[in-house]
Amino acid sequence: MIKEIRLPKPKEKGSVSIEEALNKRKSVRDYKKASLSIEEVSQLLWSGSGKNLYRRTAPSAGATYPLEIYLVAGEVEGVEPGVYHYSIARHSLVKIKEQDARREVCRAALEQRMIERAPITIIIAAEYGRTTAHYGQRGIRYVHMEVGHVGQNVSLQAVALNMGTVMIGAFDDQRVKEVLEIEEEPLYIIPVGKI
Ligand SMILES: Cc1cc2nc3c(=O)[nH]c(=O)nc-3n(C[C@H](O)[C@H](O)[C@H](O)COP(=O)(O)O)c2cc1C
Repeated sequence: MIKEIRLPKPKEKGSVSIEEALNKRKSVRDYKKASLSIEEVSQLLWSGSGKNLYRRTAPSAGATYPLEIYLVAGEVEGVEPGVYHYSIARHSLVKIKEQDARREVCRAALEQRMIERAPITIIIAAEYGRTTAHYGQRGIRYVHMEVGHVGQNVSLQAVALNMGTVMIGAFDDQRVKEVLEIEEEPLYIIPVGKI
């Protein structure tokens, strides 16, 4: 099993302006039956909270960075179906589970079928302790604010790549953790596909 996949460098310029992306953003629950390229996946993951010129594309309270990003890959050219952890530091994917998990994630999310149908799903999960260690109970609020930043980045990047997405908050936390085999708390499930 290949453990780490280095992702292509994300683009720093695109043809869709931030204004156009904002104007076109909406929840999309139907996608074309088309696979994504590794370049597209690289761009989407980077947009969420990748390294930028300064720190990261999304802010973090006290730079405590409580969020981890996972990729449920179904149809990505050159990438085997499976569950991957996105290493922000290395801009790479590390496989944590071999098989296509879309069906199981769909089931854990109250049978919201767009998860099963999308070529990929991005899952954002939190280790609250990184932030509450500094800010106590208020850190919980900060983590929830941060996941909104990351989710919005992904949704706008998707629009700019001519893709659609929907932010999913309705799911069984424990089941999602079991399917992904992760310790962090899942907060957002984001299927993405071409439109
Ligand atoms: C926190 C949050 C949770 C959501 N959870 C779901 C969900 O579980 N399933 C779903 O289909 N849409 C979900 N949505 C999407 C909303 O239904 C959608 O944003 C809303 O209907 C407005 O439509 P628009 O995004 O097209 O503007 C969620 C949105 C947010 C912000």
